[in-house]
Amino acid sequence: MSVITCIEDLRVLAKKRVPRMFYDYADSGSWTETTYRANETDFQPIKLRQRVAVNMEGRSLRATLAGQEVAMPVALAPTGLTGMQHADGEILAARAAERFGVPFTLSMMSICSLEDVAAHTGKPFWFQPYMLRDRAFMQRLIERARAVKCSALVLTLDLQVLGQRHKDIKNGLSAPPRLTLRNIANMMTKPRWCLGMLGTRRRQFGNIVGHVTGVDDMSSLSDWTTKQFDPTLDWDDVAWVRRLWDGPLILKGIMEVEDAQLAAKSGAQAIVVSNHGGRQLDGAPSSIRALPAIADAVGDKIEVWLDSGIRSGQDVLKAIALGARGVLIGRAFLYGLGALGEAGVTKCLELLYKELDLSMAFCGRTRIRDVDRSILLPGTYPT
Ligand SMILES: Cc1cc2nc3c(=O)[nH]c(=O)nc-3n(C[C@H](O)[C@H](O)[C@H](O)COP(=O)(O)O)c2cc1C
Repeated sequence: MSVITCIEDLRVLAKKRVPRMFYDYADSGSWTETTYRANETDFQPIKLRQRVAVNMEGRSLRATLAGQEVAMPVALAPTGLTGMQHADGEILAARAAERFGVPFTLSMMSICSLEDVAAHTGKPFWFQPYMLRDRAFMQRLIERARAVKCSALVLTLDLQVLGQRHKDIKNGLSAPPRLTLRNIANMMTKPRWCLGMLGTRRRQFGNIVGHVTGVDDMSSLSDWTTKQFDPTLDWDDVAWVRRLWDGPLILKGIMEVEDAQLAAKSGAQAIVVSNHGGRQLDGAPSSIRALPAIADAVGDKIEVWLDSGIRSGQDVLKAIALGARGVLIGRAFLYGLGALGEAGVTKCLELLYKELDLSMAFCGRTRIRDVDRSILLPGTYPT
C-alpha cells in the first residue's frame, strides 16, 4: 500500500476495500450531484493571505464546541450505516475520535446501538435523532441517549422528506446487503471487509431493530423508516425536544438566515450550516457560500458551525475564517474508516490537524481562536 498523505488517498483506498453499494452510499449526492460537487469546489476560489516574519511558535488549535473542550474545532458528523463501511464502524470511529480529543456523533441510523457504543468507549459522545412521527419512540431514544450519558443532542432538521440518490436505488442499498449474484461477486473482491463482517454480529440498524414492535427484519425496517421521518416537523417540535433534553442541543441543516434567526431563539447552543453533504436539496448553494451571511446575522447569539465539503485542513481554516466556530466532517472520516478501520479515522484526523496547523501558521496566526476574515484575500470569498 502506498503512503497516505491526504484525504483523497483514503478515499481511493476505501473505494478499493468497501463493497460498491456502501462506498457509493457515501460518495454520492442527490439527483445531479451539483450541490454535492459545489460543496467541495466552492472552497477553492477562497484565497488565504500568506504572512512572513511573524513568530509562529507555540501554536494552539484548542477550542470549545458547545461548551466542550476539543483538540481542534472538528467533530465527526452523524452518518447512517457507518458499521457497513467497516465492521463495527461506529465503535471504531468513536474510539478514534475519543483518543484524538474530538467529538463523535452517533446517528440514529447507525449499525452499532447507543448502548453498544457506550459500552465500548470511555467518554461521552453525541447523539443525532431525526424527528419521527412516533413521538413515544423518539422520547425513548432521547431517554436512552441520556441513560448512556451522551453529552449533546444533534437534531437534524433537513430530512423531513428524503432526497434521492440514483446510485442507492440502482445498487439496491440495504443492510445487511441482499445476497444477489451481483453483490456476492462484488463482495468477493473485498475480502478484508467480508472477514470483518463475518466476525461481527452488528449488521442491522442497532438503535431500531428490537426496539420497535414489528420491526425485526429488513423489509419491516425499511417500511418503518420511510413512514417515520416526519414531514410535519416545525419549530414547536424543536421546542418539544428542547424541553425533553436539558443538555447542549445542536440544530443541523440550516441554510437560510431566516431559519438561523428562528434557531437562535430556540434555546439551542449551536446550529450547523449544512446541506447534508449535498444529499438532500440538489440545487441548494454550497454550505461555505451560505455561511458568511448566517454567521453575520446570528454569530453573536448562537454558535455557528459548518459541514459539507470539508476535505482538508485548509477547508477547515477557511470555514473558521468565515465565521464558523467549528466544523463537522462526514465523508472524510468515512473514507478513513473504509480504508483502514480505526487507524484510518485516526489518520484522517491527523491529516486535518497537520494541514490546519501549518496553514494557520502560514497565515501568521498562532491560535485558532483568533482566526477571522482578515486571513482571507478580500474579493475571493462570499459575503
Ligand atoms: C454516508 C452518509 C450518511 C449520512 N447519514 C446521516 C445521518 O444519519 N444523519 C444526519 O444528520 N446526517 C447524515 N449525513 C450527513 C452528515 O452528517 C454531514 O452533514 C455530511 O456528511 C457533511 O458533508 P461531508 O460528507 O462533505 O463532510 C450523512 C452523510 C453521509 C455521507
